[in-house]
Amino acid sequence: MTRTLLAGGRIIDPASGTSRRGGRDEFADLLIDGGRIAAIGPADSLGPADETLDCRGRLVVPGLIDLHVHLREPPAPAAPTMPAAPAARRVSRTAAPTKGTPSAEAPAETIASGAAAAAAGGFTTVCAMPNTRPPIDAAEAVAYYLARARETGLARVLVVGCQTAGRAGRRPADLAAMRAAGAVAFSDDGSDVADPQVFEQVLREGARLGLPLFCHCEDAGMAAGGVINDGPLATALGLPGIPPEAEEAAVRRACDGAARTGCRVHICHVSTEGAVAAIRRAKAAGAPVTAEAAPHHLVLTEEALAGRDTVFKVNPPLRSSHDACAVLGGVRDGTIDCLATDHAPHTAEAKRRPLAEAPPGMIGLESALPIYVKALVEPGLLEWAELVARLTVNPARVLGMDAGRLAVGAAADVTVIDPLVRWTIDPQAFESRGRNCPFAGREVRGRAVLTIVGGRIVYRLTL
Ligand code: DOR
Repeated sequence: MTRTLLAGGRIIDPASGTSRRGGRDEFADLLIDGGRIAAIGPADSLGPADETLDCRGRLVVPGLIDLHVHLREPPAPAAPTMPAAPAARRVSRTAAPTKGTPSAEAPAETIASGAAAAAAGGFTTVCAMPNTRPPIDAAEAVAYYLARARETGLARVLVVGCQTAGRAGRRPADLAAMRAAGAVAFSDDGSDVADPQVFEQVLREGARLGLPLFCHCEDAGMAAGGVINDGPLATALGLPGIPPEAEEAAVRRACDGAARTGCRVHICHVSTEGAVAAIRRAKAAGAPVTAEAAPHHLVLTEEALAGRDTVFKVNPPLRSSHDACAVLGGVRDGTIDCLATDHAPHTAEAKRRPLAEAPPGMIGLESALPIYVKALVEPGLLEWAELVARLTVNPARVLGMDAGRLAVGAAADVTVIDPLVRWTIDPQAFESRGRNCPFAGREVRGRAVLTIVGGRIVYRLTL
């Protein structure tokens, strides 16, 4: 078995309590042997290795975990018209080749291309949402998806099953069977379960099974027909708005449900001040609630849509700067414990439609880390260790997994970050098939340069 030494890096592991402040944050070497973390110790103390990787000037952190991605590949053999997913790229590359825009007929993403994008963004684990066509709403679909995901070998792809059959909101899906097949959580992401009785049944079953519900909180009645945030811009553009209150009302309902049933509820992509306040109150009252934010809701506002550019169309929509500040505050004080991507690829053809008809969603796996650095670390809202916690051990806890830390003996899922490297975001060079990145052309700082899953290097960037 290969012994790989990550030498001389700054090891940041918020969940391993070796420092005065509660986590490990020190310059040390990390030895990987047989796919596991064999030792962490002072420089030059860990003996010879087959391969030594110079990590000086870099951060060595637990592999990043993203609770929220859309991989688009359906949970069944591809239809004849759909090109098969490309073979998994096992080896990292040294520089990003420029790629063309995928053809209009190609799917917006596959499990393989999404896993490659995860690896390139520093994510070793991602949770695939079930709003595929057809949706992942049964045990067979979960099992099929997991088997396809394992073939990629590039990232650990976990599967979230639907809350309701067909994601139609009319009756609960068979959550127990999906759990037995390996589902890690349940979500009707893309919409809420509007019917209160059905939602109650889903909550009670989630509580019984001990798995969390990932809730897309949006009151369907209040949001009906909306295209962008309900604000001055919607009026100016003559577009129906999605009111912030639609999110707040649904968050309150989900939090109440968590408190009442004991079901763990994870609030997806928080975008409004009211939602942050409702989550803060629920947590203070002891409800089993967690929450995530997505990069775009921290640094973009509804004004980005003034030119009707569909790349900025997303659901929940970009909100006011007031809301963005409140979400930043929620991340800072831990009300929002996790940072996800809501990676939502769409074809160029779909995004060329007029604003009212184009699908909502933005890609995020390969731009999230530097955007989080820009939004949170550079202005001093979070220290690196706090950012790493929101991207590793906190999401692992939501999943109920003993992961997201650099424990000796644990599988070696490790990400090495160059915290200072400056680069320009170029979606044409992404591993994702999606090109709908709202940050194209941005000058940013910080990037994953090495991603290791189970001791195997799945991505390596030589700068
Ligand atoms: O913008 C979004 N896109 N929001 C969602 O909830 C779903 C996602 C998608 O699947 O494209």
